[in-house]
Amino acid sequence: MNVVITGGLGVLGLGCAHAFLKAGARVVLADIQNNPELLQALTMEYGQRLRFVSCDVSQFEECTQLVQKSEVFFNAPIDVYLVNAGVPFGGEFLKASQEQIQRVVDVNILGSIYCAQTAIPSLLKNRNSLLMFTCSLQSTLGRSQRSIYTASKHAIAGLVKSLSLEFARQGLRVNGIAPAAIETPFLYSAFEGAQVSKSEGLQTAAESLPLGRLPTVEEFAATAVFLSTPGAASITGQLITLDAGASAGVFPKQALG
Ligand SMILES: NC(=O)c1ccc[n+]([C@@H]2O[C@H](COP(=O)([O-])OP(=O)(O)OC[C@H]3O[C@@H](n4cnc5c(N)ncnc54)[C@H](O)[C@@H]3O)[C@@H](O)[C@H]2O)c1
Repeated sequence: MNVVITGGLGVLGLGCAHAFLKAGARVVLADIQNNPELLQALTMEYGQRLRFVSCDVSQFEECTQLVQKSEVFFNAPIDVYLVNAGVPFGGEFLKASQEQIQRVVDVNILGSIYCAQTAIPSLLKNRNSLLMFTCSLQSTLGRSQRSIYTASKHAIAGLVKSLSLEFARQGLRVNGIAPAAIETPFLYSAFEGAQVSKSEGLQTAAESLPLGRLPTVEEFAATAVFLSTPGAASITGQLITLDAGASAGVFPKQALG
């Protein structure tokens, strides 16, 4: 199985990389940042089944090159593509600068569209391929102080549903994984906005969820791998929620993350 993961050097991207590599896949990690030491350690662990490609997903041409370089590395089309790169943004709607708004739109919305549009021709070369998007609880639920990020994640949910219909008859499945807050630097940035300590923020976020704990990186990665298995062959157009019960209904505590 040939897998591409954008935002591949982030916490969720790396978690998925480990899970797919352990399942025997070959993986291309794409990211705007580079981390040669980490990549060297991964190569020591998994050998030549791993490649890094520098890519800013908000640049269409770089997304095109990512697909070309991935096909060269795999010497085959892409089987699984996880559109995972994303940037957070929290705070009062009226105080967001045009630059901050533009960044969220460029990376989260345009980047997702560019990744999908450039990857789908490669994915369609196989009859049984999978396009996945990292969505969020904010792909279906609104959230005070997260309007712009929430709008961007709702846009990705629209892509999941529409693309799943448009390409179903060509054998491409399209799904999203929609977690509640998972402990990553991404979440810590929300705590900074709310001016609470890391431990206080984590505790409050966990207590706000019906199960009383945050979903984990390993659970996210296991879901991504499951969606690529034959057992998930009928799952398309879905957002798989990993939210510890948050979307089931009203729960009295208020989260920070
Ligand atoms: N951590 C959470 O609580 C949480 C919850 C729900 C959804 N998500 C989503 O999960 C995804 C991954 O987030 P994470 O928690 O691993 O955060 P992270 O910050 O660890 O990873 C994000 C990665 O995306 C990369 N990136 C940013 N802009 C990019 C660009 N223009 N092109 C290519 N790569 C770029 C970053 O360099 C980083 O490696 C995001 O889409 C985020 O919206 C996270």
